[in-house]
This record gives sequence, C-alpha cells and structure tokens, in this order.
Amino acid sequence: MRTDTPQPIKLSDYTAPDFLIPSTELDFDLAPEATRVRARLTVTRQGPANAPLVLMGERLRLINIRIDGQPVESVVTDETLTIASVPDQFVLETEVEIDPLNNKTLEGLYMSSGRYCTQCEAEGFRKITYYLDRPDSLSKYRVRITAPRSGFPHLLSNGNLLEKGDLDDGRHYALWEDPFFKPCYLFALVAGELDVYEDTIETVSGRTVDLKIYVDTGMKTRAAYAMDALKRSMKWDEEVYGREYDLDLFMIVAVRDFNFGAMENKGLNIFNASLLLADPTTATDADYERIESVIAHEYFHNWSGNRVTCRDWFQLCLKEGLTVFRDQGFSADQRGHAVARIKDVKALRARQFPEDSGPLAHPVRPSSYVKIDNFYTATIYEKGAEIVGMLKTYVGPQVYRQALDHYFAANDGTAATLEDFLAAFEAVTGEDFSPWMAWYTQAGTPQLRASSTYDAAAHTLTLTFAQATPATPGQAQKAVVPIPIRFGLLSQDGDKQMFRHDGHLASEALHILRGADTTIVLTEVKSPPVLSILRHFSAPVLLHIEESGNDAFARFRGDPDAFNRWESAQGLAKRIILAERPDADLIDAFAEGLDACITDENLDDAFKALIMGLPTESDLAQHMSPIDPAFIHKNRNNLKSALSARLFDTLRDLYRSIPAPNTFSPDSVSAGRRAFRNALLDLMLARYNNAENKDELIALAESHFGQATNMTDMVGGLLALTYVQGTPYQNALDTFYDRFRNEPLVIDKWFSLQAAAAHPDTLDRVRALSQHPDFDAKTPNRWRALVQGFANNQSVFHAPGGGGYQFLVEQILAVDAFNPMTAARLVEPLSRYRFYTSPYRENMQTALQTIAAAPNLSKNVLELAARALTEEHS
Ligand code: BES
Ligand code: ZN
Repeated sequence: MRTDTPQPIKLSDYTAPDFLIPSTELDFDLAPEATRVRARLTVTRQGPANAPLVLMGERLRLINIRIDGQPVESVVTDETLTIASVPDQFVLETEVEIDPLNNKTLEGLYMSSGRYCTQCEAEGFRKITYYLDRPDSLSKYRVRITAPRSGFPHLLSNGNLLEKGDLDDGRHYALWEDPFFKPCYLFALVAGELDVYEDTIETVSGRTVDLKIYVDTGMKTRAAYAMDALKRSMKWDEEVYGREYDLDLFMIVAVRDFNFGAMENKGLNIFNASLLLADPTTATDADYERIESVIAHEYFHNWSGNRVTCRDWFQLCLKEGLTVFRDQGFSADQRGHAVARIKDVKALRARQFPEDSGPLAHPVRPSSYVKIDNFYTATIYEKGAEIVGMLKTYVGPQVYRQALDHYFAANDGTAATLEDFLAAFEAVTGEDFSPWMAWYTQAGTPQLRASSTYDAAAHTLTLTFAQATPATPGQAQKAVVPIPIRFGLLSQDGDKQMFRHDGHLASEALHILRGADTTIVLTEVKSPPVLSILRHFSAPVLLHIEESGNDAFARFRGDPDAFNRWESAQGLAKRIILAERPDADLIDAFAEGLDACITDENLDDAFKALIMGLPTESDLAQHMSPIDPAFIHKNRNNLKSALSARLFDTLRDLYRSIPAPNTFSPDSVSAGRRAFRNALLDLMLARYNNAENKDELIALAESHFGQATNMTDMVGGLLALTYVQGTPYQNALDTFYDRFRNEPLVIDKWFSLQAAAAHPDTLDRVRALSQHPDFDAKTPNRWRALVQGFANNQSVFHAPGGGGYQFLVEQILAVDAFNPMTAARLVEPLSRYRFYTSPYRENMQTALQTIAAAPNLSKNVLELAARALTEEHS
C-alpha cells in the first residue's frame, strides 16, 4: 500500500484569511478548448503586514498578472500562486486559459452536451481562476460572458442581468451583477442552447420574482412539475420560516453530466437533469417526490447556506444538515408526516448507520480531512438533519422558530459556525446548549436501552433509560449526549393507555435523557403496559427495549404513533429473518398482523405500502455479526415467499379492487395508491419459485407491465417480472429499451434495474452491460445507474468468489482516472469488510488493497481506501 497519504487539513488550524476580496470582476471569453478568464479583484489586507498573497489555482495556464496595472513576479505551483510582497490595498488582475471541453472532472468550468456549465462547491472555483477559494472569503461579483451567438444564445450567471448585446464576428455578451456578498463556491455560469420554462411569483412583501427553468431543447413541458415545486417551496419558506427570496430573478438549469444531485448557486441553481425533468411516462413517483424535495432543498439554501454561509468546510453541516431538515419538513407538510418520517428513517438507516459504525465513521463536524469532497456524507447530511430535529423537539416549534429567526438575523451576510447556530438557541432560551455540541463532535450511533417494571398493585411503572456510544476510529471515549425520548404506553391489546408523568395525565410524553442513565416513575398506569419508545424516531439512536416477545405485536396492532407501528413490523421481520430456524408460529402471527394492516380502511395506502416492505438486506446486515449476505438473502426471500403464500387471496382481492390508473396525477394520494398496488403485485410475485399458479403470476405481471400508462407502473411490472426471470423478463426489458432508447434518463433506469436483479447471472449481465454501446462511464448518471445499482445489490455484489468486488475495483479505477469525486463515492461498499464472515471479508480486503496500491490514484480515492484499511480504531 502507498504511504504518501496527503497531509490532512485540521479544524484546529483554522485562521481567518490574511486578505479580503470585497469585489470580484470576471470576464469570460468562452471557447471549448481555450476559454480565457480575466479576473479583476480588489484586495485588502486584514492579516499581518508581511504576509504574502497566496491564491489557490489548479490546471490554469497563467497568461498575465498585474498589481495596480503593473506586471508582478509570482510563483506558481500545481495548487497555488504566491506573490511574496503586496501592498495593503490593491487591484489584482489575472488572465488564465482553461480547457472546459476536456474537463471530465465535472468540476470548475466544463462542457456537457455542447453547453458550458460550472460546479464550484466545494473547491472547484480554483479551476476557473486564481482565488481565495475558501468559504469565509465573501465578495460581490460582476461577471461578463462572451461567446458566439449561434450555439450559445443564453449566457447566464448569478444575480441580475445588467446588460447584453451583440459584438463583431457573430459573438455576443451578457453582463451580470450579484448584489449579495458570496463565497466563490456559489459562483455559477451557464452558456448554451436551452429552452426556458417561465413563470413569476409574488413574494410576501409584494415583489414580483421571475422564475426561469432552463432545460434541453424540446424538454420544456417536463419542467412544469419542478416549477410547481419551486413555487410551493418559496411560499412554504415564507410561511414556515419567514424567509423571503431576495433577488428579482431565480433561475434553474438542468444538465445531464453532473457529479451530484443539484447545486444551490446564488440565483442560478444547477440541477442534474434526473432531478428536474419529469413527466408521467418517463418519471416514477419516487422521481417526482425526489424532485420536489431537491428543488426545495436547493431553494432553501438561499437562506441556510447562501445568506448565512459556512466559515470553513468543517461547518458543512451548518448548511447541509439544516437544509436537509428544512426540506424534510417541507416534504412532510406536502405529503404526510408519518410516511415522510418513515422514509427519512429508512434512508438514515440504509446509509448513515452503516457509515457511523464502520471505518469511515466521522463526526458531523469532522476534525480533519484530506479531500472535503469525501465528506458530503450521509452523516453530515442525515445525522446533521437529525440533530436539528432533536433541537426542535427539545425546545418546541415556537421557540425553534424564534431561534432560527435569531440565527438568520444575527449571522446574515457572514460565514458562520455551528457554535453560532447553538448560540441562537441559547439567546432565545437563556439555557446552556453546550451539551448538544457532543452530537456534532462525536461519531458513532448511540445505543439506547429501555427497560421497565410494573407494579400492578400500585399502578406504577418504573422506566429506565440508559445510553452508550461505541468507540469509533480515533475516538475511544465517548461523552453522553442529550437524547429526546418521546414515548407512550399501550395496553396489551395495542390500545393507547394513559399515565401520569410530571404531574400531567397524558398518553404521550417527552423525556430528555441527559446523563448515562435515568429512572422515571409513571403513576396511574391501570393495566400492564406495552412500551412505545422513541416515537416518530425522536433521536437517531439504536434502540433496544427489554420486553416480552409479544409486546411488538401490540404495537403492530394499534400503536397510534404510525412510525412505531411501522417500526414494530420491521423489528418482527428482523427477528424472523435473522433466526437460525424459521418459526412458523411467529410467521403466522406476523402475516395476520400484516393482513389486518393492509385491509384496514383507516390507514392510508402509502403507509400500507411501506409496512409491507421488509427490512432491506443492508439494514438486516447491521443486525448480524459476522455478516453472511447469502444467509440474509435466503431467509429474507423465504419470509417474503411465506407471507406471499399466506396472504395470497387477500393480496389478489386488494389488487383487483384498485383499478389501474388511466389518468396521472403526481399528488401523494394518487402516488400512495400506485405504491400500494405495486407492493401488492410484488408480494404476490414473491412466491413465484414455489408457486403452483406460475402462469397466473406471469399473466398478472405481464399485464401490469403491458397496460402501464406511467413509469411507476412500468417499473412495478418489470420488478415483478424480475422474479420470473427467463423469457418474460427479457421480453419486458427489450420492450422497455425499444420504447425509451432515445430517453437517457429512462435508459439509466434500464441499466439500474438489471444491475439490481438478484439473479445468478447478474454479474455476467452487468459485465456485458458495461460494454453496451449506451454505457458511458464519463456520464456519472449512467455510470452510477449500472455500478452503484450493482454495488447495492447485496446478494450479487457479495458473490462468494469475489467477482463482484473485482468488477467494482475495475470500475472505480477506470473512473478515478478522470473523475475522482464520483469514483470515490463507490469505495464505501467495500469499507466494512471486517464485519463480514469468510470468504467475503478476505475478498473485500483484497479488493481494497488493490485499489490502494494502484498507481496514479487520486487523493479522493486514496483517502477513503486508506481509512478503510486502517487497523482497528487507532
Ligand atoms: N451543496 C450541495 C451540492 C454539492 C454536493 C456540492 C456535493 C458539492 C459536493 C447541494 O445542496 C446538495 O446537498 N445536493 C444533494 C441533494 C440534496 C437534496 C441532499 C446532492 O447533490 O446529492
Ligand atoms: Zn445542500
């Protein structure tokens, strides 16, 4: 393994910049392989008198550099430009040449489908010009763009358009000015041929804002849903957070080649086309839901991220965690709180919990990093959002709103820290919030134990809570964290039960566990209770309740907290699947409980679809030690098949009772109905291998697929045929391909559906697909569709021979050569090798070592491979 691991950057080394750049003028002369960028920066010293000016810059060809109009000596390395001696106040002019056409890192200025676009967060601006590329360097921007009119009719940047006009030789220009101070990671530029979907909105103070969504030509109608989501987001942020939009123009551009989902550049968001374009025939309900939440997320950043930005990248969660929490609140208001919460927790468990228990575990505010790109993680996003949620639960909704108002007012126009965020809560409550800091500085998922004793004569219940956080790499000792525990009691039949707590008679209460453990006494508890702990998942912890095996069934039957009702079903399924021997009685009881749920007219369809979903294989792996992926896969399938057999008549009746939709509406009730209908089909087909009515099952799946009038049902039909395999499956895939061969976003689905099939020949198929003419590793959407789809396919990826790991290694190394950021994101599936049983463990470790030993590895991939291979918690 290589040992030249690059030097990490440490939070404890933070110092304010030596210079300020209050104004930044940029002039772009666009040409595919030789774009000229002229920068005119006003610079003032705020640090020591002898400090040199050190600017960041990568892959720039310096043409000219002047201070106050005079040529000046500078020293240029691969990463910096240094001028040893500069005045206290001066104008720095530079001119560089860059090559957007051949920039396949998709960072800085690059070309996608003949269009120019930029991605600067986190440290991409330095690939555009020499600059103080750090988030605490705030500047006002004026940007001039010149390009040929033909091919580039739209020239866009942040802020307001001041001027545009024609030049000689068929060229034209546009001049933009952003009146708000911003860090350079929020800079954006787009130039090209685009269609515009336009609308306007009136803000709460009566200003009219022009809204423009730019998409590929011919795709205009597919921007309608994004526009609708944008307008709802803008209204919601006014009503719920009192946040008004601050420019007269808000633009979004959709691009096909993008390393992530979307980016919140000031006044000019840039989106991965997959998270913006939607119509019923090409987008699933999940796509619509995701588009709504990402539109909201990037828009909400205008306050949480742009008006108040981050002092340094260690504070990334200040904007990301808060903004995820805000977009989750929006989605919950749009689509229902219980269902939204369940989906968020599923995502947290699928991505964040594994990360937090493995070698890549890191605090929400890390103390060091090599490449900040590697820290856009589930921990920073999802756990970061959970912390904000706990703070809100703790102080209550009204005080939370006051605290956020205070935070925005006190830090507007500045680059802030997590201390500033907690200080806002302190300011409005007068309380000390420093204990909450441990949630930000400490890695690992806390374990919460709950136990109880009931005194039947005295009608009292003694409840004990205890917390412990396991050691994580570099952090052996853990502090206690405040844990908000929302809880209630049920009767043995699953009805809600009242109790007295803190003087109040209630059916639900909130307790904040502040120390390692605590005991509380509830009185007036009339009958032996069943605990319902951590309602609405009030804290991101692993809960263990000491209770009788039947208590989960009481919650399954009737917990008024929908989250815990769903959770009880997940827990029961886990117990069944991970048992050494199948327990027929338990399976019968579980099937009965499920039957009661899906036939209950008081429950909504979206909830029914969720409660029918068994825990994923990766979630189950978290509860097995050592992990045996084949065991999990087999037992999970067996349970599905058993449920399918026991519930078949109910499933079929319900399925028939829901008519196939012939009109499409993306609203959550309609989407819930489609989700439920597809879940019914899925569970019916799950017993295909053991079924006597195979022909009936094939006919059901084929007609579902064949008659589908929207993408959700088409995918549902294809997934059902995945159980069948063979000709019916292949025919459906071919039909799908022929119909959508000119729709890249749908062909992405075609790749990922095949990569996700749990078939014995999936690895061969995926290898073949990697040679398909439509496969293109340079387009992250297409590459992720195949390779990430495959790496998430637990039973196939973890093939005992290690062939799945080898394929992933080849792909990571191939993509690392030109797009390190995207390549690095797929190292994680190999990282938790120590938790697996043989031979998986050794094979995964070998795969990681192959990566780490590869020549010319990027810093991004090297950092993750090296961390994953580091010996136990050192
Ligand atoms: N600021 C990020 C975009 C970003 C991600 C920049 C990674 C640099 C590195 C943006 O606000 C974001 O968080 N996007 C998410 C989607 C969001 C809804 C969670 C993304 O791109 O995955
Ligand atoms: Zn974000």
